[in-house]
Amino acid sequence: MNILILGSGGREHTFAHQLSQSPNCSKLFVAPGNAGTAKLATNNPLSVTDFEAVKELVLSEKIEMMVIGPEDPLVNGIVDFFSQDEKLKNVAVIGPSKRGALLEGSKERAKEFMSMYNIPTAAYESFTKESLSAGKEFLTTLKPPYVLKADGLAAGKGVLILESLEEAQQELENMLTNDKFGSAGNTVVIEEFLDGIELSVFVLTDGKDYKILPTAKDYKRIGEGDTGLNTGGMGAISPVPFADEGFMKKVEERIVKPTISGLETEDIDYKGFVFIGLIKVGEEPYVIEYNVRMGDPETEVVLPRIESDLVEVFQKVASGNLSELKLKVKNEAAATLMLVSGGYPEAYEKGKEITGLDEVENSIVFHAGTAEKNGKVVTNGGRVLAITSFGKDFPKAIKKSYQNAEKIHFDKMYFRKDIGFDL
Ligand code: AMP
Ligand code: GLY
Repeated sequence: MNILILGSGGREHTFAHQLSQSPNCSKLFVAPGNAGTAKLATNNPLSVTDFEAVKELVLSEKIEMMVIGPEDPLVNGIVDFFSQDEKLKNVAVIGPSKRGALLEGSKERAKEFMSMYNIPTAAYESFTKESLSAGKEFLTTLKPPYVLKADGLAAGKGVLILESLEEAQQELENMLTNDKFGSAGNTVVIEEFLDGIELSVFVLTDGKDYKILPTAKDYKRIGEGDTGLNTGGMGAISPVPFADEGFMKKVEERIVKPTISGLETEDIDYKGFVFIGLIKVGEEPYVIEYNVRMGDPETEVVLPRIESDLVEVFQKVASGNLSELKLKVKNEAAATLMLVSGGYPEAYEKGKEITGLDEVENSIVFHAGTAEKNGKVVTNGGRVLAITSFGKDFPKAIKKSYQNAEKIHFDKMYFRKDIGFDL
């Protein structure tokens, strides 16, 4: 069948890499894609939130399966757009409906959902402009640090963790009345701070049944030792050594099962990924957030460990037959290292020539922010390349990625040298 992947990052290149290996994949398209996906698929420069353009592409190329990478089109309702269109409704779409996507699109909705189904998460209250003074008062009842979350999508920047009460009260005011995060901050969730170690659990569901995919841990801060600004992710490993059988049993019973049955109870059309951001406090798992898509760079370590034919897996999801699937996972560990543009996550330059890609051995290079220019591969984003490797354990895997990073060059290239340091 002909397949379309929406998005342009390392996550989407990884999807393309896995799907293109399936004998069930005829023609593969990525929109907009990058220089890496161009080697495996046909890129199309459309915008992922331009649903009419997506429709045109799907019809003209006879696409039968569409996999949605990023959250924006999901939160904007692309799945509903497809299911309500006579010509598109038979396309197998991997991604939740708009109501499902609200678990990521609204932090307040996610918290209400968790409280409804007794899913462990930090205690919280939410506030709007009208209840600003109550919000400031609520902060005085909490111990520092203070966690403030803009309700809506804020490109991963909408969470503030503050040490002083005065600062927290001021930031709450900035979000609610000075539009600090635009309309995403019209409602702010204030949460109890949880002290623990984070990990990500990915669940694939057809809305009734589910499969838990390999666990992963990403490294979000720009600096070594988890310091400096937050990024989209500087590296990741899978599986997570501390997510042992006993811990994962708790995750499944207390979090995964009630999440999926909650979706079913509310009659939410959900055929796709649930990315559960977890924190382990002592031995207990708590949900930090839901995302309704795969993570990036977590995808670059999770998907390559899946040995089952990904087209078949997605067909079972789309047709509601996931219970029939026996998921095969590689025993080996995987690690990925992000090479980023100097300056990222703040201002950085684009268009730098990338060399050495052909010298890489024993790793897979997934392109994130790259483009082709005059036959050369150039940088086109903050996160540029993800180097994924396998090994008996993650230290062996990441070592290969570091060896290959030495062979790749572009002006002002930067990467963290301590992926996995805390494990
Ligand atoms: P989120 O966008 O909800 O994933 O939050 C971004 C980051 O803020 C998370 O990855 C955590 O490191 C941190 N964070 C969010 N909520 C809490 C919390 N309640 N306690 C401690 N850290 C948190
Ligand atoms: N790596 C975190 C995310 O994809 O949201």
